[in-house]
Amino acid sequence: MADSTKPDSTEPDSTEPESTDPPSAEPEGPAKGSRAGRLTRRGLLVGIGAAGGAGAMYAAMGALGLAPTEQDKAFTAPRQGDFTLSGRASAKVVILGAGVAGLTAAYELGKAGYDCTLLEARRQAGGRNLTLRGGDRLTELNGPAQDVTFGPGVYFNAGPGRIAQWMVALDYCRELGVPIETFVNNNASAYVHTNGHTVRARTARADMYGYVAELLAKATDLGALDRVLTKDDGERLLEFLRRFGDLGPKLDYEGSARRGFTTYPAVGAGTPLAAPGTLHQVLAAGTGRAITNDFGHEQATPMFQPVGGMDAIVAKLRQAVGPDRIRTGAKVTGITSRDDGVEVSYAGGTVKADYCVATLPPHLLARIPHNLGAQVTAALRTPVPVSAGKIGLEYGRRWWELEDRVYGGVTETDLDLTHIWYPSHDYHAERGLLVGYYNTDAAAELYAALTPEDRRRRALTQGKKIHGEKYRQNVLSSASIAWERQEHIQGAWMRWPSFDSSFTLLQRPAGRVYFAGDWLTHLIAWQAGAMESARDAVTKLHQRVLQSP
Ligand code: ALA
Repeated sequence: MADSTKPDSTEPDSTEPESTDPPSAEPEGPAKGSRAGRLTRRGLLVGIGAAGGAGAMYAAMGALGLAPTEQDKAFTAPRQGDFTLSGRASAKVVILGAGVAGLTAAYELGKAGYDCTLLEARRQAGGRNLTLRGGDRLTELNGPAQDVTFGPGVYFNAGPGRIAQWMVALDYCRELGVPIETFVNNNASAYVHTNGHTVRARTARADMYGYVAELLAKATDLGALDRVLTKDDGERLLEFLRRFGDLGPKLDYEGSARRGFTTYPAVGAGTPLAAPGTLHQVLAAGTGRAITNDFGHEQATPMFQPVGGMDAIVAKLRQAVGPDRIRTGAKVTGITSRDDGVEVSYAGGTVKADYCVATLPPHLLARIPHNLGAQVTAALRTPVPVSAGKIGLEYGRRWWELEDRVYGGVTETDLDLTHIWYPSHDYHAERGLLVGYYNTDAAAELYAALTPEDRRRRALTQGKKIHGEKYRQNVLSSASIAWERQEHIQGAWMRWPSFDSSFTLLQRPAGRVYFAGDWLTHLIAWQAGAMESARDAVTKLHQRVLQSP
């Protein structure tokens, strides 16, 4: 987390000893800032802040070379002590939506004593951070409800399921005490299924790396790259390519133990897989999709998940915010921003507050009557919802561990199921739940249009093409989600045609209404986006309160 002592600890004073007191531990007045008749820099700033407000204080900090730099713009949570400095009081804030963005905003504002009320249209907080367990009931717009019957301890992360190491979501897990475990995002033993053929991911990788290395190595060796490579660099590149592709002495890719074995080595040497197909066959098989999915910063392995279900994050945030601050079943019906406050009407009442943080999906927010202007409505309508769906298939035995020796990871396919996820937890338990499809766009819409029963039937028929008949046997139960059919959400995430002026417009408040959500960041479809956006809105709101007349 950001260093909460930042403003005072930016740079030690070289000429005056600064106080070593924790900066926010107690109120400070101008008198405390002078020692032996001299004014310290802190004392001066406090004096300026008291007289001229936080704005004047920041200006003075700039003049003294203490203003936060780009690098210092790490988030600093609002603190009770900020009000002592500025002489302002905290405010009442109504937060629309108790998903990850809304909960994060309430949590951070709560640290400074803001009086937050969250209005949540759904029956429970969490939004898309939804974990299903036995006993849950999943309703859908214009579709039958599903009663979830998973066994004890079995869960299905129907929304977010993985967190990258650099994401702020992990900081919240640490801060809130949510235990995490590795999410196996990339498993060489998982499969790639393309053009009707199934191979292990390790085989697909070995062949693609091998042939790419062979081509480049031969081009280098023949001098085709002499215009861009010095002789030494050519040698260095060749040395790397030999390793990268496991090439033979003549720079040929002839297959390698990296492809895998039909019988793994033990007392005997094992039986390696047969030699690879030709370059043409490998390219035509289209297995290249398996080798790039974790190259990017968002999917790089290892990734993480909360132990016991993603909704542990929601449970802890909810607890920290105070469950009585969250009104569920509270669909917002009107937003009015005035000079002196904001009024939000909802099914069940009205909330008057000083400020509002609106975290609803933008396309739904746009439909709510408001007085924020036509430009805001148009901007909210600009991003379009994306479809995504998942099915959780609970099996009575973990055949993927027992028979296929797959412990976690993702199978990539060109089937409409797109991905199969194997569980990264509770290995060797008797039952287990795998994600039988995780798809987006047209494939997700196709499944969304089916009944839950038909989704399951289709998922099993498709999955059998990869895993064989066992995929359809011993299925204890299932639950599927079509995010576009989730009431009050109606989409998995948003897609901006471009990050244009609508995007930047909504990053600023409209009157007293601030907007937040993953859709307002470059981390769309990640909880981290919702959290970063909430922090941004909280920072802007808090600065405004500190500088208000
Ligand atoms: N964040 C989403 C995922 O992990 C897109 O698949």
